[in-house]
Amino acid sequence: MFPLFYNRKYNKPYIKEGNQFICEDKTVEVVGEIPRFVNEGSYASLFGDQWKQYKKTQLDSFSGTSISANRINRCLGPLKGNLTGKFVLEAGCGAGRFSEILLQQGATLVSADMSSAVEVNIENFPVSDKHIVIQADINDIPYADETFDVVICMGVIQHTPNPEATIKNLYELVKKGGTLIIDHYTITKSQLFRLAYFYRLYLRNKPSTKTIPYTQALVKRYLPLHKKFAGNKIMSVLLNRISPVVSYYRAFPQLNDMQQQEWALLDTHDSLTDWFKNFRSKKSIYNTLVKLGATGIWCQYGGNGVEASCKKPE
Ligand SMILES: C[S@@+](CC[C@H](N)C(=O)[O-])C[C@H]1O[C@@H](n2cnc3c(N)ncnc32)[C@H](O)[C@@H]1O
Repeated sequence: MFPLFYNRKYNKPYIKEGNQFICEDKTVEVVGEIPRFVNEGSYASLFGDQWKQYKKTQLDSFSGTSISANRINRCLGPLKGNLTGKFVLEAGCGAGRFSEILLQQGATLVSADMSSAVEVNIENFPVSDKHIVIQADINDIPYADETFDVVICMGVIQHTPNPEATIKNLYELVKKGGTLIIDHYTITKSQLFRLAYFYRLYLRNKPSTKTIPYTQALVKRYLPLHKKFAGNKIMSVLLNRISPVVSYYRAFPQLNDMQQQEWALLDTHDSLTDWFKNFRSKKSIYNTLVKLGATGIWCQYGGNGVEASCKKPE
């Protein structure tokens, strides 16, 4: 059973009336089985269009790999495979590459995203007694403090306006004794002096009718070069200065050429159209968690930058 939705502004639960949830002056429509706590048109809307274009690309069940499972399992640590009976929030779920693994491991899962990605998530992983999908801002998740055994947020916090505030808001949702799992972009030498910076300035305020074909043209031009130089570290580093294309020929050689192309299309679009792109060091993420009073902090460089988990003391 899922707990009641809770209006954090009025400190009261929502009441269900027909196809709506109501609390004071706030009415939430349920459209396509998804309660819509926020409207379309936010800074994250390009993400929604992106996930509609590349619905299944990064699902392990589609790629036939364990790339997503490996990443999330590393972050789950001792919770890996032990999510049965746990009430889990996945904040910023996108198309559901991690929702898939969390559901497989027995979680009772709320998948939340601010963009229309929720429509892709629910198509990939329909509503059940173990899964609901809500359209909501991770800085205003409609549940009371200390509701979830596990809050997990992968690939998202760097795209929010204030990462420290986002981490705090997520931590508040964790039950005493529960776990928060996050990751964050970090700055590396390979991100400096890249032409990609200018492509992003140009693209990020364009509609997806422009950004998707534009990134398709970039991938067509540059991906063959990434493939050619995949075995040459120096050439790959130089190429990354010029090419804005995200290539996985070096990181995930197990993907075949068609998959390489699809992953490049998806993540090139992702990296050139995000509205907010913040970077944090391992030390800064660690200190943020310490300040919140978290214990058992695990924090390391890995995945997309820094990965961390911590507990809320009993
Ligand atoms: C790079 S995608 C990652 C999606 C998924 N976690 C994954 O790793 O495949 C970032 C996601 O965060 C969502 N997002 C960004 N800001 C958000 C916010 N404030 N609240 C909820 N979702 C947000 C976007 O809509 C997008 O689906």
